Amino acid sequence: MPISYNEPLQVFRLDTPRTTYLMGLAGSEGFLGHIYYGPTVPDDDMRYLLRLEERPGTPDSNPRDRASFFDCFPFEYPSWGGGNFREPCLRVRTACGGGNCILRYVSHRVLSGKPGLEGLPAAFGAEDQCETLEITLRDAEAGVQVVLLYTVFEDTDAICRSARIENIGDAPLEIDSALSAALDMDNEDFDLITLHGSWAREQNIDRRPLASGKQSAFSLRGISSHQFHPFLALCQRGAGQEHGLVYGLSLIYSGSFLVQAETDQFKQVRAVAGIHPDGFSWRLEAGGRFQTPEAVLVCSDAGLGGMSRSYHDLFREHLIRGQRKRRPTLVNSWEACYFDFDHERLLQLGREAARYGIEMLVVDDGWFGKRDDETTSLGDWRVNERKLPGGLKRLGEELAEMGVQLGVWMEPEMISPDSDLYRAHPDYAMTIPGCSPTLARNQLVLDLTRKEVRDCIYEQISSVLRSAPISYLKWDMNRPLTDVYSGVLPPERQGEAGHRYILGLYELQERFVTDFPAVLLENCCSGGGRFDPGMLYYSPQIWTSDNAEAVDRLTIQEGSALIYPLSAMGAHVAACPSHVNGRVTPFRVRGRVSLPGCFGYELDLDKLSPEEQGLIPQQLGEYEQFGPVFRDGDYYRLASCRENHTYDAFMAVAKDKSIAVVNFVQIRSRAYRRSLRLKLAGLEERSRYRLRGSEEVRTGAGWMNGGLLMEAALCEYFSELAVLERVAD
Ligand code: GLA
Repeated sequence: MPISYNEPLQVFRLDTPRTTYLMGLAGSEGFLGHIYYGPTVPDDDMRYLLRLEERPGTPDSNPRDRASFFDCFPFEYPSWGGGNFREPCLRVRTACGGGNCILRYVSHRVLSGKPGLEGLPAAFGAEDQCETLEITLRDAEAGVQVVLLYTVFEDTDAICRSARIENIGDAPLEIDSALSAALDMDNEDFDLITLHGSWAREQNIDRRPLASGKQSAFSLRGISSHQFHPFLALCQRGAGQEHGLVYGLSLIYSGSFLVQAETDQFKQVRAVAGIHPDGFSWRLEAGGRFQTPEAVLVCSDAGLGGMSRSYHDLFREHLIRGQRKRRPTLVNSWEACYFDFDHERLLQLGREAARYGIEMLVVDDGWFGKRDDETTSLGDWRVNERKLPGGLKRLGEELAEMGVQLGVWMEPEMISPDSDLYRAHPDYAMTIPGCSPTLARNQLVLDLTRKEVRDCIYEQISSVLRSAPISYLKWDMNRPLTDVYSGVLPPERQGEAGHRYILGLYELQERFVTDFPAVLLENCCSGGGRFDPGMLYYSPQIWTSDNAEAVDRLTIQEGSALIYPLSAMGAHVAACPSHVNGRVTPFRVRGRVSLPGCFGYELDLDKLSPEEQGLIPQQLGEYEQFGPVFRDGDYYRLASCRENHTYDAFMAVAKDKSIAVVNFVQIRSRAYRRSLRLKLAGLEERSRYRLRGSEEVRTGAGWMNGGLLMEAALCEYFSELAVLERVAD
């Protein structure tokens, strides 16, 4: 049983395949403290780590130092009050306006499987795959009850945590902060890792020593953002790709968030994750409940790679729905023609796709309303018959005759001031009464907190999808939320608007996946502005970045793969010179960079040179052959051009260890003729593997310790796929 309670010791125990998580009750008042999280330990009795014998002791044995106790106790779910001056997970105000909340243990129960979280994306698992522990804590004086949820999976080293806040009093409660989880630990000489970036430069890995005080990554943009990411890792200073202790904390949420590590006076660390408290508040009526988003904890003593593989497994098996469905290869019209297309032009792109056996044409922005540029028509999701006579139906049918599927782009959360929708319903836009709203990309955001707005947009989306044979929807979102205000909430409850917007978005996407299970959804937010686990619950793939230039993409994809499986990344071969940074890279290298993701082309195939066109069948063949290994296998990073500035290499190993593929990309010339030695990883030590195309056969141990010599290439750009196939066990 992965979850147990040792009653005499008052210790809760959670076991994943390779880790143990222990919590215990302290004192007769029953404060719930965090004891241990790390590699598996058989002992339940690790209570000494609570340091209860040291001063100041539990309040019931030493009430005069109650405040000192709260100031250092490693609370499992810290609340504000009593002397906890570190970041609380929960901060409430009661009817008097004051806000102490001191939570004590009441009861617990263990359930088979995992209950869903109402209105929120969350990991899932069958009754024989996972168990869930519910621990109820209460502050009867404040009228607050908190139910902590912990799910442990049999097959994955990940623990899902969330909290449900309940008002058990008879007056309304104001919640000012409701984070999802905290992890209090000693600072074992940790480094902090977060992801940062900007538009076209998402998911850069940032690693630095953990300092005193608070260090965070956050978004206040109403989206998870390009700038930071709802994830942090703490790793021992010396931890590397495949060795050392690493903790990961990821949040399944798509709006404004906070992930933070705080080092206190005793060098204890408190890591927290949740909805950002700034600008957030929630009125909880008597009897009401508030469910926080879910956080995912991972611990690995096999370095960052071990952490990545646990996240990949959890997200693939227990978060992304329908992830194993075949992802079609595609051509997207955006960088091929932007807004400048008509029926014939699209059909021509379709013919080119058909010629190579590319499976889908995606009609990006510009097919609806009067949309010939970025200034108009968002919200008017009716086909522009001037550009597309006969509509998407005719286009889809003609493409189908060539054996090409049709995909479309939409930006359902938006409204252009120059649109019929805005002229009919200006109040549908999210604006603050009496304030001129801020435009971004000439557009406003729809007030998704209102049901009639969601219904209106959903009707439009569904009638588009029913009007034509459409197999794929790219759901875009191209601006942050600035004028956050809900048209249905009274002034004193406007702190709920940002989160209610996200709940409205989740409801819309849930309706979409329920009603159109056969349509593949890809989320997008000016590239990777909402590349987060929340969106992955609805769409198995996300457009990783508007920057598809090969060199920059290597870094963006390395950052993404730190947490997300390669199967989640939209990766296209884009036009050259790059429309984003002007860099010129060979077509072959661009193909190899895109190969591990959801593969496609973002250019006009007709404009390629004959030599480049000649490479397309090879690229599609590699995707067909090795795509499953990249998407479903285990990921091992071997080298990073972010660090060495010259070459990038990672490998994927099939789960049954029968085949491994190394993807090597060189981006700068090396001025000497000497091969590079890449030590491989993840192979079965005793099995023998042949390097495809050679007579080289070696054991897994040989390849991993001796390595693979990657040929010397003096040229600037060079790429190689090395395939190792098991020949005998
Ligand atoms: C965003 C997307 C692009 C493209 C444009 C269309 O920037 O990230 O891929 O769809 O919008 O306007």
